[in-house]
Amino acid sequence: MSVHKKEIKRITTHVLQAMKARGEKIAMLTGYDYSMARILDAAGIDIILVGDSASNVMAGHETTLPITLDQMIYHASSVIRAVKRALVVVDLPFGHYQGNSKVALESTIRIMKEAGAHAVKLEGGSEIAESVKRILSAGVPVMGHLGLIPQSIYKFGTYTVRAKEEEEAKKLIEDALLLEELGCFAIVLEKIPAELTKEVSSRLTIPTIGIGGGQHADGQVLVTHDMLGITKDFKPRFLRRYLELFETIQNAIGDYITDVKAGDFPNEDEQY
Ligand code: KIV
Repeated sequence: MSVHKKEIKRITTHVLQAMKARGEKIAMLTGYDYSMARILDAAGIDIILVGDSASNVMAGHETTLPITLDQMIYHASSVIRAVKRALVVVDLPFGHYQGNSKVALESTIRIMKEAGAHAVKLEGGSEIAESVKRILSAGVPVMGHLGLIPQSIYKFGTYTVRAKEEEEAKKLIEDALLLEELGCFAIVLEKIPAELTKEVSSRLTIPTIGIGGGQHADGQVLVTHDMLGITKDFKPRFLRRYLELFETIQNAIGDYITDVKAGDFPNEDEQY
């Protein structure tokens, strides 16, 4: 008797395009390690972003700037080993595409070869067009990222809402149209007014993925550690926390410490 395993339909950039066309929202979360990526994939997430937010969440840096290409490849390869269905997108780290499209392509090729990633994400619009073009010409799907772009935090000075003024909003729309024209398969819109997300999403045929961009984006992304309440004090308005895991884990570890100190762990059933 042959046993037929149920085949898993992988999420591709084409599947995402079809989702936008039929009005089905796209769910994306960040992932940086094997164990969490297994859970994300098993839960049915469409896209896992190996974000350079690993610099904050995993390494404790204040910004996303310090993370290296080798570190991104380490995180991405751990995620890829866990994933059967989701599309895995990897951030190109700061310094690997701004102003040098050759470096951008070389870094992308390392991410694709060494980690086995499915796509890369770059922050910015017209300023990085050459890098986007060159990566796309090598057959690698590119996700754009506009609005609040954390790799430029020292230019902005704060993490407040972007593109509230007409001039910046106009540039963002032009950049979004350019990224679509160049061939990007999706664009993250971070921390911009909901009405601007609505306009951009209606003018593009590729999906927009919002984070702090309101309900009109074609999909949503959050940092997993934020929505699970592992990062304790980060509570921006756009963040919905589905769990308060910091306290839950802290309490479990407190119970373990108490049991060890009291000689209650291990008991007779927990030894050989
Ligand atoms: O690095 C990251 O986590 C991101 C998301 C916030 C979109 O770029």
